[in-house]
Amino acid sequence: MDRIRIRGGHRLNGEIPISGAKNATLPLMIAALLTEDTLVLENVPRLADVTMLARILGNHGVDMTIRGKRRGKPNGEGDTIHLCAETIADTTAPYELVSRMRASFWVLGPLLARCGEARVSMPGGCAIGTRPVDLHLVGLEALGAEIEVESGYVVARTPNGLKGAHIEFPKVSVGATHHVLMAAVLAEGETVIENAAREPEVGDLAACLGAMGARIDGIGTSRLVINSVARLDGTTHPVLPDRIEAGTYAMAVAMTGGDVVLRGARPDLLEALFPVMEQAGVDMTATNDGIRVARNGGRLDPVTVETSPYPGFPTDLQAQLMALMTMADGTSKITETIFENRFMHVQELVRLGAEIALDGDTATITGVDRLAGAQVMATDLRASVSLVIAGLAATGETVINRVYHLDRGFERIEDKLGRCGADIERLTG
Ligand code: EPZ
Repeated sequence: MDRIRIRGGHRLNGEIPISGAKNATLPLMIAALLTEDTLVLENVPRLADVTMLARILGNHGVDMTIRGKRRGKPNGEGDTIHLCAETIADTTAPYELVSRMRASFWVLGPLLARCGEARVSMPGGCAIGTRPVDLHLVGLEALGAEIEVESGYVVARTPNGLKGAHIEFPKVSVGATHHVLMAAVLAEGETVIENAAREPEVGDLAACLGAMGARIDGIGTSRLVINSVARLDGTTHPVLPDRIEAGTYAMAVAMTGGDVVLRGARPDLLEALFPVMEQAGVDMTATNDGIRVARNGGRLDPVTVETSPYPGFPTDLQAQLMALMTMADGTSKITETIFENRFMHVQELVRLGAEIALDGDTATITGVDRLAGAQVMATDLRASVSLVIAGLAATGETVINRVYHLDRGFERIEDKLGRCGADIERLTG
């Protein structure tokens, strides 16, 4: 298994290109199931999750070709992928595949809309919490699906086709919004989704579905109104930039000091991060082609932050912010309100010398003068990258094990950081 070795203490200077968003790419790829025509996605990041989903979609009969720049080419743009689900070969998504990637559960709605039946393994729990799918199922049932759970599989049928409905989610769910939206675009009549997630990745999916011919109003708001169309066509859609990757690198620069332009990052998608960084004493400014992050000298100031659905502070940046605050001059508090168990990074940050106390959903971080490198490992993508951030500032050598978590969501991380002056290396084997 690959590992990442970091020798800390180097400032970051230069430019980091921001890739297409993983969490937009995944639902966009699944949307290919909704049409017989070819869906072309541009700016697709080269990530293990994309490869895995391609395999899962291939099992349903989706034909995929990739036209991209050569792997490893500096500052290369993402891949362009062509997905064509001319015929659906199989409406079953087996446990072996769904259990490796939760988002693949979202094939259920599109398969139902397209074929009238589907059998998809329940995704099960994962490291960051129990992550149920009740909202997904309630939404699909409201659209007329008959659903049973048999031997760990959701078996769904629509004997009379999907019908528009009024759905109010009791809780904001990104996945349930993606999922029900994809099913509703082909449902007969009007569907209203209240308390929809407003995450930009939902907006990106809705925009792509719109370009495919779907009729969706209220994009970017918590009330989506969808009117049926008989079929969807193919289109070409560029994936929006990854706000979480951009926020992560912003925190890396804040941690080490330096001056970096995050090329292609969209400041409007990171509005919750700007005031937090300002409070911490980091300069973050919007530029013509991205975001500039700079910090010179002095320790950071502590912050108090609570995660919440968009446009609030993202749970996907919580671990990285915690790493940053381990070296602040004072005590920070970070409350995680989205996932009940998203603190796997805490113990590993403590191994590097951080002082963190957990009380329920709140972490209290007492800033220390220095972190010291160690062997660490994390069982989730964002937790892993928080260890990279800490390692960049720790004295000595930090080795991060189980790098495959990072490869799920960060394209060429060692290359992007290395070009800005980090001493970071992938150890293969
Ligand atoms: C998406 O997960 C993202 N994944 C996550 O990113 C992200 O952390 C999360 O949204 C929140 O922003 C992808 O987009 C692929 P949710 P999702 O449904 O859709 C509860 C990363 O690191 N809930 O918005 O699974 C749930 O337990 C990942 O890139 C129910 O109770 O998250 C959680 O507490 C990790 N019932 C809350 O809602 C349901 O049926 C929000 O979850 C569904 C969710």
